[in-house]
Parts: sequence; C-alpha cells; structure tokens
Amino acid sequence: MTSLSRSVLSPSRNSAVAAFELSPDFIHLNHGSYGAVPREVRLEQERLRAAIERNPTGYFQDEFPDAMRSMAAHVARRLGGRSEDWVFCENATAAISAVLHSLPLESGDEILTTSHAYGAVLKAMSLVAERRGAKMQIATLPPLLEHDDQVVEAMRSALGSRTRLLVVDHITSATATILPVKRIAELARDSGVPVLIDGAHAPGQIALNVPQIGADWYTGNAHKWMFAPRGCGLLWTTPARHGQTRPAVLSHGTDLGYAAAFDWVGTRDPTPWLCFEAAACAHDGLGGPDLMARNRDVAADGARMIASALDVQVAGTPDTRAAMAAFILSEHGGDAEHAMRFRHALAHEHRIMAPAYAFADRLWLRISAQIYNEPADYERLVPACQVLLAARAPALA
Ligand SMILES: Cc1ncc(COP(=O)(O)O)c(C=O)c1O
Repeated sequence: MTSLSRSVLSPSRNSAVAAFELSPDFIHLNHGSYGAVPREVRLEQERLRAAIERNPTGYFQDEFPDAMRSMAAHVARRLGGRSEDWVFCENATAAISAVLHSLPLESGDEILTTSHAYGAVLKAMSLVAERRGAKMQIATLPPLLEHDDQVVEAMRSALGSRTRLLVVDHITSATATILPVKRIAELARDSGVPVLIDGAHAPGQIALNVPQIGADWYTGNAHKWMFAPRGCGLLWTTPARHGQTRPAVLSHGTDLGYAAAFDWVGTRDPTPWLCFEAAACAHDGLGGPDLMARNRDVAADGARMIASALDVQVAGTPDTRAAMAAFILSEHGGDAEHAMRFRHALAHEHRIMAPAYAFADRLWLRISAQIYNEPADYERLVPACQVLLAARAPALA
C-alpha cells in the first residue's frame, strides 16, 4: 500500500478502507467493476494456497472433487436451488461463453439480447452467431429506461420463430439498472425460447433466489459484490439443460455430466471458488441484507445529490437501482477516447476512481456504494466533474 501521507480520507474512514486493503490515496467509487477483497478473505485464499502447496498431487486427486461440490452446496444455500445445478467458472464471461457454445445453433437461427447488454457479451454473441451462420438480434432500449414494460415489450417484439436464445442482464453495466428478469423469463418460457440471465453484478448487491427467476441459465460473479477473490464466477443451470451445457474449454469431465465437466477444466487455481463461503461470511459480517440495504440507500442519496448538483440525468428509478447509479454526464463526447481521458483525469488529477464511458453516443459516469464509501465521497465527485466538464467542453462539443 502506498504512503498514508497522500490520503484523501478522513482518519475515521481509513480503518474501513484498510479492512479492504484499498489505497487511501483514492476515493474508490467503482466497486461494481472489479469488487474489492476484504483482508480476511485474501488471508483465507493464502491459507488455502499454502495447504494445497504442501501436497498438490494428494489435494487434486483426493480432496478437490469433494471440495468443489461442497462449495457448490454453499452457493446453493445462499443463492437458492440444488448444489448439483451450480458450477464455478472463472467469471461471468466464461459462463456466458459456455452457454453460447452449448447451443445447437444452425444457419438462419437467431440469438437475441438488448442494447443494454455488456459490451463483451455483445461481442461474444456476435462471433458465435457469425460462426454458425446465425443472426444476432439486439432489441433497442432507450438509454434511460422509465419502466419495466419497455424492456419486456422490446424483447417480445424482437422475438421471432428462429430465436434460439434470449440473453438479458439482471443489473446492467452501463446504466446500472435492474431489469425485470422474472417477466423476461416468463416471456421466454411462453415463447419456447431458452433464456440466460447475466447476473454478473447481482450476488451480494441484491437479494437473490436464482431458481425462482425461472430462467434456463443464470450466471453471477461472487468476485464483485460478494467479496470473493477475482475468478469466482458462478453458473446455475436448470436440470433440463444439464445434458447440453458444457464449458467453453473442454477437458476430462466433458463426458461425466454437467457438474463434473465444469469442476475439472484442466489444472487451475481453485482457491477463488474455495473462498466462496469465506467471502459470503465476510458479507454477512458486514451486515448481509443490511449491508445491501445500506449500500442501496447510500447510492440513492449520492445519485440524487449528483444529479441535482450537476444537473444531469440518472438512469433508472429508485426502484430499479441498487448499489450503483449511472449518469449521462454529457450528450456529447460519447466516444471511447473522450471517456478514457475523462476517467484518467478523474483518477490522476482528482484522485477519484469511477468509471466514465461511452454508451449510446453519450458520455456516462457510474458510481458504486460499498461499506467503505460515505456521502462525502459523492460530494467530492461533484466539483471534480464540474472542473473536467468545463475544461473539456470545447473538446466535447
Ligand atoms: C453485465 C455484465 N456482464 C458480464 C460482465 C463480465 O464480468 P467478468 O469480467 O467478471 O467476466 C460484467 C462485468 O462487469 C458485466 O457488468
């Protein structure tokens, strides 16, 4: 950690930040992108690594299969369903690729998502479709969603007789908005089309019972809001889809069934997955449901204050936001180059870590609220944005 002499934090807050090992040289407003691992979870990962290192052969041959299944049982207890429906992946990206590669897509088939889908997922869907001679369909949503019906109706009208998969985000990345996944799953079922929910941001940010959503597949990351070490992706698959669902990278377990196929994808570091329960306990220790409610309130207050002080629009409604909020900072400058310069200046001139990005031809900024954030953080963001928007106004015009 760098010297405390550059700390931008009040002394009372250094301890909260220190529990996460975050540098006090910055205000951290981007829990959503990469999470932050509490020290106790990192130490548990180190303990596990050391234990494996004492006898790697014995560990992988004798202990690893049961350890993975017992950790899957912890996931089921926390996120719903049966352990045999849960598998671990590196991340949501890997889980989504697994589902895409498991589809029996043929030439002329279609796969459908929304214009709010995560950029990397759009790219993966496009390439898989192109390779199979299938088409990628994108239901266009307005950048600022006003109600759930807009999402459901856009998807309903984009569904066709050749649609073979629907992909929808639980909490969008660019607009930090909770989408009506239960209603979309119902629409998909009524239309006889399987649905994959991209819940990369959901575990630990909102209460979750995955099987109750009624989807075919659900992926989430424990390494964002659940405090797990990076590399703790999760995939739930409805039993009827176990037979067809395999990881994108195939190994010994391929012909041994769904869970075995994901549990062994060659030799890997299993410690991010084996830390799932320690991470979930750390989440509980910081309040569990109370922490989620607290983060939601802090983000809502921050969003209200920023929107009013900067006179900008915030995406979604208080009901469709959780611990993040996204703003249209400028109707102009919606390209990656401007966004990168804005984010860089925010970090290096104002010592604030928050994602600025281009989406729907506009310049956006997203905030997150985690236990180590307090209202003063968002207050610091306002003058920084004012300075940067004014300084860059000619370039953004
Ligand atoms: C909606 C959404 N889907 C997928 C991902 C990919 O997550 P990961 O990088 O952990 O694979 C992200 C990452 O932020 C995301 O926001």
